[in-house]
Amino acid sequence: MQPVELEEPQALQQMPAPQPTSTAQNLSTGSAILFSALLASGLTLRVALPLRWFSWHPFLMLLGFISFACAGIAAKTKGGRTNTLNHGYLMCFATACCLGGWYVIHEQKNMLGKPHITTWHAYFGLAVIILYTLGAAGGLAALHPDFGVARTSQDFRRVHKWSGRFATFLSFVALATGWVKLSSNLETVLLVGLLALLSWAVLLPPAWRMGTTASAAI
Ligand code: HEM
Repeated sequence: MQPVELEEPQALQQMPAPQPTSTAQNLSTGSAILFSALLASGLTLRVALPLRWFSWHPFLMLLGFISFACAGIAAKTKGGRTNTLNHGYLMCFATACCLGGWYVIHEQKNMLGKPHITTWHAYFGLAVIILYTLGAAGGLAALHPDFGVARTSQDFRRVHKWSGRFATFLSFVALATGWVKLSSNLETVLLVGLLALLSWAVLLPPAWRMGTTASAAI
């Protein structure tokens, strides 16, 4: 009788932990997007009223980086095929928002006859636009789970992962340097606090965070 009692708990311990279904993974990513998109919209209303052509610039940038990019990076950190695909789609959405936001401000400056790329905000912004476009195109062509040409290359995956995190951190710097032009110092400090929190929660690999031992899945 005794061996049977001992075997059962051991067998249970060896069983793999149940994996969330792809519906559960999609729901978790979807709620992260919904919450952060509401946050991005609220921040836009705070900084870009009255609504006008220019307002699309902060809106698209906040939506792209606070919502799509953060949800996309968080999805990838969880690992698995569904999360990897969600990551790819969301990073492409973030890039599309970024290019749209750039088009808006470029046209705005043309309409007003102002010179282009003259401030630190514009330098950071341009670096983000270039890095994100390269990251999305490279990720799609090389790392798609079905047809990516370098999907088994650990070196390529590492470069993609760290350049993506760096570009997203730069996007936070661009968000803050853009925000400060239109808002009070106190609100800029609050935004920087929010961005620091996001950097900790999303950009820091899980294994580096206190009390977490799971490793990044890429
Ligand atoms: C990651 C997010 C962002 C990126 C990549 C970005 C990118 C850019 C770029 C490239 C320009 C220069 C366009 C040109 O000279 O032709 C620019 C200008 C501008 N942006 Fe942003 N932006 C971002 C977020 C924001 C936010 C959140 C705001 C406001 C809350 C903002 C406000 C402005 C303003 C007022 C200008 C015109 C002044 C200047 O050229 O510095 N931006 N942005």
